[in-house]
Amino acid sequence: MAIQDILKMGDARLLRVAQDVETFDTPELHALVQDLLDTMKAAQGAGLAAPQIGVNLRVVIFGSGKANPRYPDAPIIEQTVLINPQLEPLGPEMESAWEGCLSVPGLRGLVPRHVALRYRGFDLQGAVIDRKVEGFHARVVQHECDHLDGVLYPTRIEDMTQFGYTEVLFPGLDAASEDD
Ligand code: NI
Repeated sequence: MAIQDILKMGDARLLRVAQDVETFDTPELHALVQDLLDTMKAAQGAGLAAPQIGVNLRVVIFGSGKANPRYPDAPIIEQTVLINPQLEPLGPEMESAWEGCLSVPGLRGLVPRHVALRYRGFDLQGAVIDRKVEGFHARVVQHECDHLDGVLYPTRIEDMTQFGYTEVLFPGLDAASEDD
């Protein structure tokens, strides 16, 4: 139950393929999820993946059930703990939008993602989650699940002229609150 340090790009632990969770509803898994929630909240993140706090398991969290001060125009996503996720793009349509990452502080890049997505996985108790989503929600899930395969968003940027410091790209944006 604590705010953990978030690993930054360059740390080899962010490049690993994380392992499946095998047992649900354990004290260890509850503690991990609480750490993720505390750390995401402290950083005002839109999501967080276990590898970002050095835990090599396929666990991501996203959404807060309320508006994110860093993304005031984004739709509200209910707070979700997603374990052992599987993603299935719905259709070929891709869309580019700006992303940041708590492991790549201070920067933003234009990243193409699938517009619509079905995702499946399990919650903390092992109950099935199965949702079809689109837009920002789909983007957040794709970003977080990339962390489970050791992928950071800069490697998905197609036009590297569309990558830079948040304060330069978006002057006036609250510099103390950045990245997901
Ligand atoms: Ni990230």
